[in-house]
Parts: sequence; structure tokens; C-alpha cells
Amino acid sequence: MSSRSRSTYQFDGGLEQALIDVCSVAASGNVGGVRQLAARVLRGLPPEIRDPEQFRDALTAAFAEAGAPTPRRVSRPPADRDSRIELVDVQPPPTGIALILPDEVAGELQAVVMEWSAREALVAAGVSPTLTLLLKGPPGVGKTHAARWLAEQLDLPLFAADLAGVVSSYLGSTGRNLRRVLDFAKEQPCVLLLDEFDALAKRRDDDSDVGELKRIVNVLLLELERWPSDCLLVAATNHPELLDRAVERRFDRIVDIPPPGPHERIQLFRTFSDPIEPLDEAVLVGAAALTPKATGSHIERVVHDAARNAIIHGKPLQETLTAMLLDALDPSEVDRDAFCFTASESLGMTQREIAQLLDVSHPTVGAAIRRAREAQ
Ligand SMILES: Nc1ncnc2c1ncn2[C@@H]1O[C@H](COP(=O)(O)OP(=O)(O)OP(=O)(O)O)[C@@H](O)[C@H]1O
Ligand SMILES: [Mg+2]
Repeated sequence: MSSRSRSTYQFDGGLEQALIDVCSVAASGNVGGVRQLAARVLRGLPPEIRDPEQFRDALTAAFAEAGAPTPRRVSRPPADRDSRIELVDVQPPPTGIALILPDEVAGELQAVVMEWSAREALVAAGVSPTLTLLLKGPPGVGKTHAARWLAEQLDLPLFAADLAGVVSSYLGSTGRNLRRVLDFAKEQPCVLLLDEFDALAKRRDDDSDVGELKRIVNVLLLELERWPSDCLLVAATNHPELLDRAVERRFDRIVDIPPPGPHERIQLFRTFSDPIEPLDEAVLVGAAALTPKATGSHIERVVHDAARNAIIHGKPLQETLTAMLLDALDPSEVDRDAFCFTASESLGMTQREIAQLLDVSHPTVGAAIRRAREAQ
């Protein structure tokens, strides 16, 4: 079988393989096995199913008609009553997520995964793995992406709720929406991502809402304390200062995701360019030196922009990328010594070109390169 998880069916082999799996279990006369397989399929529907609700109904009806116990019903994701927009985006366990973080931050997330794989031993010892995780960090550093990575590692479906969408213009509906999102997630093992978590806190601006907001925050506090052991709740925010201290304290683990350093930027450039056209190591080092303030999200965008340009003009990706980065460089943002060194060693720029780019004299560049070389 192409399935790996106890909780969700893996559609690695596509619908054809799924059909073969169903037939092979059915042919052995294992009705319970077919029911289990169906329940797992229902938990992580493949994208080819165009009307998930109709599919669920039809599958459940097929079991009922055959007089067999039906697979556990998985309800439809809740929607906002006014806008009818679904509050939770249900995705099967992601695959192939590359997450690039400094070692100590990656270690924190890896620790969550390790705790989950030792879950039974932990529970037997009376402790639970990290069940609630708060990710903080500036925009574009990979918080949402980290939730996808965790879902892949834990082989769980990802339920993503954008709290900016859950927060309705009516606070009464906000409380109800939040409740329904949490109840829905608790129905089955999953990673629940509460994205833009600070959206709730932002509602505090309006004095008349304070009482109602307190009630909602209390619901949340209670939920965090009693969060079930087969779901991982991940909240993400780029405005941690807006969060209620009491809420923050209730999380099992808080992880700060910083902007990428030079080493991570090299890896990010590599990750995004490799599937298009691999870049020379020296160009990767140069690209990282040219983008001191970039986040993962920036780097993804700039590589894709350069790829579009390179393809249209029939030029190598590395040439286009370097030219675009040099063009966009703000000389005041770079560490001059390190930059002069990298530009000369990695990008093969002459001292004259570097001097022109940074608007400094030629000897200044020579001295900067010497200092950087000595500091190596
Ligand atoms: N650390 C990273 N590793 C790998 N890819 C990254 C990383 N950071 C960002 N990306 C890429 O940039 C995209 C956008 O990042 P993401 O949405 O996770 O950022 P975010 O921190 O959630 O930002 P925001 O606060 O704006 O929601 C990701 O889908 C991914 O492709
Ligand atoms: Mg995000």
C-alpha cells in the first residue's frame, strides 16, 4: 500500500493506486479494513475531488446501503455565517517542504517532531509533547511555511485558519467562529495553524468590545490548556507585542523566527534556484552578500523574477540574478568590508566596478578587501 500514516491516507500513488488499495483490502474480505481505509481517505481528500462534501456523503451512503458501519463522519469545515467563506483550509499532509532556518531555531522545531515521535513514552511518563506552539517573527521569514513543514514531519493534515478571516466585523460572530474552528480541528488528528494570530488582539481598539473580547480570550486560554494530545496547535504572529501576556504564557513552546543570516540566505537562494537552473557556489555567496535585509519570501520572489527575465531574454539565470541584485542594492545597507571582499572574490567584480557601485574611491575598496581578507 502507498499509505504511511495511521491517520491519513497518502495519495502518493494518485487515485489509481488508491483504487487498487481499496480493491486489494476488499478482495481479502476485510470489511473493517475497507472502512478504515475509507475513514483515512475522508480525512485527507486529494485535490482531484471537486466537491468534497458530496464525495463524503456518497461514500458514507455506500457503507450505509451495504449495511456496514459507516466510517467516522468528518464534518465540513465551518464557514463564516455572513460571508459564507470557509474559516479553515483543509490540506492533506504536505510533502517536499524545504524549511531553512538557523540551526538553533531549526533545533526547536525538530525537538517538537522528536517529542511527537516519542509521544507514547512521554504520555506514559505523565508528560505530554508540545501541543501548542507560538511562532513569532517579522513578515516573510517562514512562519506559515514552518507550520507546513511540521505537518509534513508529523504526517498530519494541515488545517489552516487565518484569524484575520475568523475575526468578523461582529465580535459575537468572532467568538462563534473561533469556537467552530477549534471544535472542527479537534475532531481528528491534525496540525491546526492559527495564522495572523494577532488579529484577535487588534480588536481591542474599540472600548465597547472589551468585555466580549475578554470572553473570547478566555475561551482561547481554556482551549490552550485543554488542547487534545493528537493535534498540534500552531499560532503564528508578526505582532507579538499585541498579544495578551496571559495568552502567550499558555503556549507550551514559543519559537522566535529571525530573518535569515548570510548562511541561510545562501541556502535559500540555492533552494529556489536549483529546480530552475543551479547557480555556481560563488554566485550564491555573492547573492547572499547583496541581500543583507532579505527574508525567505523576498529571496523566493527575486529568484522567480530573475528566472522570468532570464528565460524571456535567453540569458543564464545567474547573470540575470546578479545584475538584478546589483541594480537593487542599497550601498548603505551592506557591511562594506565584507561586501567588497565577496564582490571581488565571488562575483569576480573589479575594484573599479565595486567602487562605482558603492560610490567610493578605488583605494577605499582595495583597503576594504584587505581588511576583510585579514579578518577571515
Ligand atoms: N525560512 C524559510 N525557508 C524556506 N522558505 C521560506 C522561508 N521563509 C520564507 N520562505 C518562502 O517564502 C514564502 C512565504 O513565507 P511565509 O508565508 O511562511 O512567511 P511568514 O513568516 O508566514 O510571513 P507573514 O508574517 O507575512 O505571514 C514561503 O511559502 C516559502 O516559499
Ligand atoms: Mg504567514
